[in-house]
Order: sequence, then structure tokens, then C-alpha cells
Amino acid sequence: MSKTLFIKTWGCQMNVYDSARMADVLAPLGYRPVEEPDGADMVILNTCHIREKAAEKVFSELGRLRILKDEKATAGNGRMILAVAGCVAQAEGEEIVARAPQVDMVFGPQTYHTLPEMVAKATRATGSVLNTDFPAESKFDHLPEESNSQGVSAFLAVQEGCDKFCTFCVVPYTRGAEFSRPAAQIVLEAKRLVAGGTREISLLGQNVNAWHGDGPDGSTWGLGRLIRELAEIDGLARIRYTTSHPRDMDDDLIRAHAEVPQLMPYLHLPVQAGSDRILAAMNRKHTADDYRRVVDRLRAVNPDLALSGDFIVGFPGESDADFAATLKLVSDVGYAQAYTFKYSPRPGTPAALEGSQVAEEVKEARLAALQQLIAAQQAAFNHGFVGRTIPVLFDRVGRRDGQLHGRSPWMQSVHAVADERLLGRIVEVRIDEARPNSLGGTVVTGEHISTPQGMRRVPSLEASA
Ligand code: SAH
Ligand code: SF4
Ligand code: F3S
Repeated sequence: MSKTLFIKTWGCQMNVYDSARMADVLAPLGYRPVEEPDGADMVILNTCHIREKAAEKVFSELGRLRILKDEKATAGNGRMILAVAGCVAQAEGEEIVARAPQVDMVFGPQTYHTLPEMVAKATRATGSVLNTDFPAESKFDHLPEESNSQGVSAFLAVQEGCDKFCTFCVVPYTRGAEFSRPAAQIVLEAKRLVAGGTREISLLGQNVNAWHGDGPDGSTWGLGRLIRELAEIDGLARIRYTTSHPRDMDDDLIRAHAEVPQLMPYLHLPVQAGSDRILAAMNRKHTADDYRRVVDRLRAVNPDLALSGDFIVGFPGESDADFAATLKLVSDVGYAQAYTFKYSPRPGTPAALEGSQVAEEVKEARLAALQQLIAAQQAAFNHGFVGRTIPVLFDRVGRRDGQLHGRSPWMQSVHAVADERLLGRIVEVRIDEARPNSLGGTVVTGEHISTPQGMRRVPSLEASA
């Protein structure tokens, strides 16, 4: 019998990937994804623990879901199995079980391949099933093949976990130790995605460029080598990877940015702060100049490369001079876009115990100043595209009538009036308009198909609607 499954996902792209794989694990049990929790046979909250209020959000969501669960039971429509997954489950599993008796299953990011057993147990038992171990086996060896097409643009997890232990961050605790999937397994999954219609793959990892694996020749491969291998897959037009750590940008990966045409000229490379004193306190193990040098090396091989980053303001002990160094670094590097956060003390992390916490108003003011600088850089970056014709991969229907949404090589959202037949294709679009967070344009001509030999023009396909 068909059952309905609603998954709500918070947090990073890895969580989005995990949610899709949970649906794959549950598909053979008869669960089919739906868009609303009302009346669903199973609801999974896939949670994020990275900044404060994460747990509170989960508990308030659980309050709402308890009502839906009761309504379903009272109406005689069976039981709603309620689950909390992801990084809050990993960090606070026992508290969830204690505080929210309506929850049937609590499991962390490394155990969702055992969902069939957990569901069987939860169906029999009345208490909650808690599964937040870090199992010795890799979930990737037990996950079924993707049951649904993952769309034009898909995520593929290649690396997980983190051994870097930045002093502000919960990820090493919630995701566990660094782990790289075997190259052959990744290539197989990529081929299946492409066979299912995917044209762009984003390789995911908490430290994706720390990925390493054994190649068929017995040598150890790094991410650059893996990307070259994936570029051989016919029909895979675009490759991206995220998130990188500056310390793991090796020469081969940098060279791949010059040599692999499918590797997109856009890189998310977080630095967090511009002051060496703060970087040391964060345990980043690199200086601001180390980061500048990595950026210089990347731009030397590919001047077209656009950068994105993550920044934390108000880390404990951050002075005005430290913050000025962050602004200086942002000015020096020049970002196409970036994510900015106020430092948020996380339970169990060393920085949370520091006595020198920065006042909330100071964090607010620094965040506003940094955001203003980055917004100006982003606006200038986007404005530079007006009048240019660029290849856009259309990935979904746009919000306005007759429009499609696509992505530029530099990750910008591009909207253009276009026939739905162009979904999944890379099309030349002339950019007419730059908005703060997106571009607007007109489809001009034919299609670009990228092959391992590079980009080549194919005969025109009637485009404009
Ligand atoms: N290595 C992963 C980290 C994921 S967390 C990655 O780089 O994607 C994503 C970002 O959240 C980090 O880069 C950092 O800027 C921010 N972040 C992590 N912990 C934080 C905290 N305690 N307070 C504020 N921001 C934080
Ligand atoms: Fe967190 Fe640092 Fe690891 Fe990124 S590198 S996941 S910020 S500990
Ligand atoms: Fe959040 Fe966990 Fe990702 S804490 S950012 S969902 S790794």
C-alpha cells in the first residue's frame, strides 16, 4: 500500500542530499514523498545544529506536528510516524526523546540507512527508537540506488565529516570523523544521475577538498583527479564542489580549474575572518595571507573564477582592529557573493567557554557593515554581466509566467522567457538586467553542449516563447 512521507529539511546541502537519500531508503517500503505534513504517514524533520535556536525551532515544529498526529489518529486514519533526523538529533537525541514523547524515531546523519529496521521497531513499540551511534560501517555501502530522478542539478556526497575542529563549530561532533567515499562508488552514482537526466553535479562534503581515495591504478587520488574522471561522463555538462577548506586546495585541484572545462568557474572558499589572531583562536590553521595566496594561485590559472565565502563576526575577543582586518580581506579578495553570520556560542565547543564574548550590539553593527560591503561587491559583480551573453543551464520553471530559471557558470540565478523544452539544456542568454541576487536576460540562440573536449556549439534550437 502506498504511504505518504513528508520531509522538512534545514541546514546545508548535505542535509538536502541526506533527505533525498532517506526518501530512497523508504521508497521500497511504499513511502512516496508529499509536499505537506497534514495527514502524512511519516514526517521526518531533518535538522541543523550549526547556530543557536536550532533546537528550539525543532521543538516548536514538534508541537505543531503533535496536533496533526493526534488529528490523524482521531480521524481513524492511522498513525503518523514522527522522526527527528540530522545534526540536532545527533547532538540532542536524548533530550528530544525525553521532552517530546510524540516522537517515534530519533537518528543522526550516519544511521539513516537503517530506516527500515527503525520503522519496523517504531511500528511495534510505543517508546521512541533512538539511533545516534557512529556505526563502523559506511551508510553509503547500504543505501539503495536513487529511486527518483534528482533533477537537472543534483548533489552527490563524496566526503563527510570533519577532523578540523574549528573552535566555534559543531560539525565534527554531529557528523563525525572525516570520511571519503570510494572513487568507483562515486563515479557509479554520478553515471546513474546523468542517466536520469542530471546535467550538473555538485560534489558535496563538509571538507570536500579533503576527499581522497584509491584510484584503479592503486595510486591515491585527490579531488582534482576525481573531477577529471567525472568529466569523462558523457552528458555531464557541469561539475561543482562545496565546501572547501583553504588548507586542502592542492595544486592538482587548482590546475583542474584551468584544465577541466566542465568544472565551473565558481568556488565557495570560506575564510571566516581576516585577522590572524582571530583565525588562530578559531583553530583555522591558516593565516589571512595563506588564504590570499590560495586565491592568487586560483586566479592565476583561471582569471574568470568567482569566489564566495563564509564569514563570522563577533568571535570571542574580536576587536575593532580584528574586524577591520576582515573588511580589508573582503576588499582585497572581492567576492561574487558571501554568507555572513554573527558568532553563535554552541554547546560543547571551546569558543563558547571563552570569557571574552562580544556584545550583541557590536555583532549587529559589524554584521551590517560587512553585509553592506559584500552586497556592493555582489551588485558590481552582477552588473558586470549586463550586455554579455553567457551559457545558462535551465533547471526549473520560473516564478513568472513563461519564464525559466537557470544558473550561470558563476552560480547566479538567471531568469529568461523560454520554452519549457529548454529545461535541462545549456542555452546562450544575453543578460539585460542585473538585480541584487539574480540576472534577467533573453535567450539568443542555440545550445551549448560541453564535451570532454570542451564547449562546442550545436545547431540552433528554437528558443524564445
Ligand atoms: N566546513 C563546512 C562548515 C559548515 S558550517 C563548510 O565550510 O561548509 C557553514 C558555516 O557556518 C561556516 O563556514 C561558518 O561560517 C558558519 N558557522 C559555523 N559555526 C558557527 C557558529 N558557531 N556561529 C556562527 N557561524 C557559524
Ligand atoms: Fe566546522 Fe571548521 Fe570543520 Fe568547517 S572546517 S566543518 S567550520 S570545524
Ligand atoms: Fe547544519 Fe549539520 Fe549541515 S549542523 S550545516 S546540517 S552538517
